[in-house]
Amino acid sequence: MEFITKSARETQKLGRKVAADLVKKTPTVIALTGNLGSGKTTFVQGFARGLGIKKKIISPTFILMRTYKAKKRKMLYHLDLYRLESNFKEEIENLGVKDIWKEKKNILVIEWAEKIKDILPEGTSWIKFEYLPDDQRKIIIE
Ligand SMILES: Nc1ncnc2c1ncn2[C@@H]1O[C@H](COP(=O)(O)OP(=O)(O)O)[C@@H](O)[C@H]1O
Ligand SMILES: [Mg+2]
Repeated sequence: MEFITKSARETQKLGRKVAADLVKKTPTVIALTGNLGSGKTTFVQGFARGLGIKKKIISPTFILMRTYKAKKRKMLYHLDLYRLESNFKEEIENLGVKDIWKEKKNILVIEWAEKIKDILPEGTSWIKFEYLPDDQRKIIIE
């Protein structure tokens, strides 16, 4: 499905809706792709809201991963691979991502997920973000 949002707020709203649909499916890995500023983190803010998370979502760019308690005892893991270059597979494995997505109550959202495409589990949902003029973004949900 393809969406055009006209503001950051609309992207957050879409994230909230997607969260409401996806919580029913477990375990869940959501892979986000798209350039810097294309709206991935903005989407995750709405997504977290949709999981009942009140805490403000800030980009985990400098610490790679943040964890949030969601409703229904679910956990949201927000991973950002932007800064990941060499030896990334080792770093990723050290974070225990494979254990995270094995656990049914976990939801793992990954920015720049294309960097670890080949290790992501089957059934990963892909969402692509594209820049458009005038605060618009194209968001393609596979
Ligand atoms: N339609 C839109 N959707 C998402 N973000 C938008 C939109 N229009 C403007 N923006 C702005 O673009 C920036 C997107 O940044 P961010 O979500 O951090 O992107 P990314 O995580 O992909 O690097 C924010 O400053 C946001 O306010
Ligand atoms: Mg981001």
